[in-house]
This record gives sequence, structure tokens and C-alpha cells, in this order.
Amino acid sequence: MKNIMDKLTSLCKRRGFIFPSSDIYGGINACWDYGPMGTLLKNNIKAQWLSTMTRLRADVVPLDAAILMSPKVWEASGHISEFTDPLVDCRECKTRFRADDLDFDPSDPKTPCPKCGKLGTFTEPRMFNLMFKTFMGPLEDATSVVYLRPETAQGIYVNFENVRISSRKKLPFGIAQIGKAFRNEITPGNFIFRTREFEQMEMQFFIRPEEDQKWFDFWKQDRMNWYLSLGIDPKRLRFHEHGPNELAHYAKAAFDIEYEFGFGSDPWHELEGIHNRTDFDLKRHQECSGKKQEYFDEETRERYLPYIIETSAGCDRTLLTTLINGYREEEIKGSLRVFLGFHPKLAPIKAAIFPLVKKDGMPEIAEKIEANLRPHFDILYDAGGSIGRRYARQDEIGTPFCITVDGQTIEDQTVTIRHRDTLEQERCGIDFLRQRLAELIEGS
Ligand code: GAP
Repeated sequence: MKNIMDKLTSLCKRRGFIFPSSDIYGGINACWDYGPMGTLLKNNIKAQWLSTMTRLRADVVPLDAAILMSPKVWEASGHISEFTDPLVDCRECKTRFRADDLDFDPSDPKTPCPKCGKLGTFTEPRMFNLMFKTFMGPLEDATSVVYLRPETAQGIYVNFENVRISSRKKLPFGIAQIGKAFRNEITPGNFIFRTREFEQMEMQFFIRPEEDQKWFDFWKQDRMNWYLSLGIDPKRLRFHEHGPNELAHYAKAAFDIEYEFGFGSDPWHELEGIHNRTDFDLKRHQECSGKKQEYFDEETRERYLPYIIETSAGCDRTLLTTLINGYREEEIKGSLRVFLGFHPKLAPIKAAIFPLVKKDGMPEIAEKIEANLRPHFDILYDAGGSIGRRYARQDEIGTPFCITVDGQTIEDQTVTIRHRDTLEQERCGIDFLRQRLAELIEGS
């Protein structure tokens, strides 16, 4: 698996998916930049999520809240007091570990440090708050401290009333948002799996308290179905229920959707969390802000604080999942073919257009095809190098269809469409290309 992560890290840099942040200065730990292909892929993931969660549902609306919020939000939410991880240091090699990530008891004198092997060198665990602090305004003192949000969810809770009233929503309804979150992780790593700056896709569904189990079950399955709809291998997806010691301070029940990422002693890791947050957050914001968050149910004439079912997906982890899920190596006639088998809906480039040779009017026809398709799809024109090399380049960025203008095109106005996964080729009339591509992308 280490191998696959190394291969992916190198492919991602070579082909413009992901670069280390501040690369020319040697990088900065646990931050990554998305290049042209990575940006398109990420945008496609976000578009699919937004469309599934809001556009196709009348009961969920979108929001885009600020990253910087009043520090009172984080006092109320419990993040200032509770959002901590236990940290231990090896006194010998100075490596820092999350105590709950270790497979052994760090206070046991027979325990070796996983890095340097020395026995019983760990410090006592101390709790470490994961929030990044900064200052707002010109004064750098305790009164100007603000935090970079560690989850996007709180921006939704504090806007519950604003959104409910302005959108005229009745319960049950949800609010969805995508945005950056920041955590000063003790042990970031595994490429983009655990980073200090990342993006979340979160939805908070406000419900009658008695209906919490029904909606919890619904969202759990709905979210799993989303990953399946993106072509993620069902054998590498599973649910993991949180035991009492794992539950976050705000949750009554939680399931993770896990993917078999493959690294670590246990290859399964969290991809998304589905949480029953009860009325914890609204109750705390009501208490701390003094502003009523209760809902008046016109049908039952009851007044109550809604419960919240949260679906919280990591955008970067979803992207890593699509990379691992899609990575293929095939031996063809003694040479290695590497390709990314993305679902066509997610592929950064839907089709590449090639003139077979740079003469006989082929480039002119190919450029015309490019101009006609560009308003409708993310496409790419490539006339450089042998056709084999051009296919190989597209395979590595996961382009599902390659369109070639060849000698026959001049005679009958047809082109070939080469399918990435099967290597089959079909001929298609130039006039039908747009329709055929749409069919191939939608129908897969
Ligand atoms: N609002 C609830 C919440 O934030 P979480 O389980 O801590 O719950 C939700 O995080 C998702 O955010 C995770 O399943 C993961 O996909 C993503 N995530 C969390 N921490 C991350 C990190 N350091 N790097 C990348 N993604 C992260």
C-alpha cells in the first residue's frame, strides 16, 4: 500500500493534481496545493455533492458561512474545552504521538518508541487543543483572539434561524455547506488523508427529536449510496459504529463510513461521519447567546429545540478515495499501462481531441471539434508526440474518452472515440459527438 501512496503522490505531482504547499521553499508540513487537474477533480466532487444534497432535494438549502467566527461560538460549542487530543513525546528522539493512536500503553516502561525503539521514554499524556488561534485587528492580546474553524458545522448552527426564516423552511429541513476547516493535528500524514488545512462537505438536518433514529438511518444509507454512485468499490466501503469512548463530545450516536485506504496497521479509515448531535449545539447557542433557537411546530402546536443529524464528509479524503479506487496498472504487450479509472462524472477532463497527424487538414478539423465541445465539457486538445504517448498522458489523468481525427474523417466526417477502461474504439459522426459524449458521461 505504501507503494500505491508513493506512486499516487508522484503521479499527482507529475500530472498536476496535487503539489506540496510552498514547494519551492521545501514545502510546509501537512498542507497541499491542488494543481489544474486536482482543482477540476475537486470541483467535480463538490458539484456532485452539492447536486445530490441540495439541488435534487427540496428540503436542503446551501450556505457559505465565514471561516472566522466570534470566539463565543467555540466556547458554546465546547471546542475550546473539549476539542483536544492526548499527546505524548518520546524523550529520546523527540517524536510526538497521539496517545490514542498508539497500539500500546505509553505509560508502560516496556513500551518501545515506534520511531527510535527506546523503551519507556514517553512523557505523561497531556491534552492538546487542535484549534488554530490568531488575532483579529491590530492588537495582539487576549481580547482579540479568534480561531480558524475546526469544522464548518458551527456556521450552520448559528445561522439556523436566519436560514429558516429567510427560506420559509419547515422541519424537517437541512442546511449544507462546503468549506475549509483547520486543525492543528498532532500526527498529520498519509498524503492528503490527514492535513492541517482541509475541506469539509457538511449537512445538518434539523428534525423533531422523536424522529432522530429514522433520519439517522436514512442519512447513513443515503451517504453510503453517494459513494457507490461515484463508482467506489463496495468491497472497500463499510460502516463503523462509534463505541462510547469514541463518541465526540456533542454526539449521542455516530457511524463512520470507512474506506479501505490501505495504510497503517488497520487499513480501514474514516471517510465521513454521520452523527446524531441531538439538540446539543442549538441548546448551547441558545444558552450562550440568549437568542431563542426553538421551533414552533404549527401542526402539533408544540415548541421545541430541533435535533440535528449531521453528515460530515471530507472533500480531500473523498478525492484521495477516488485516486486509490481508480489507480490501475495493466501489462499490455510487455509494457506497463497506468491509468486512473475515475467515474466519468468526476474525471477532470471528459475528452481529449487529437489530430492523428499534423497535416492533411486534420488539425483544422480537430480544432473545430474542440471549439464546438469546449462550452459543454472540460476538454483538452493535444497534437504533440505519437498517438500512443498522447493516450498514455490522458490515461494518467483519467480522461475517459479520446477522440481522434484520422484519414477516414476527411472522407466520411466520422472520428474514433477510444474508451479508457476497455480500450474499445467506436466511430461517431462529428455532428453527433456532443450528444454521444453526454450519453457516455451520464450513462456510466
Ligand atoms: N462536524 C463534524 C466533524 O467535523 P469529524 O469526524 O471530526 O466530524 C468529519 O470530521 C470529516 O472531515 C472526516 O470524516 C474527514 O473526512 C474530514 N477530516 C477531519 N479531519 C481531517 C483532517 N485533518 N484532514 C483531512 N480531512 C479531515
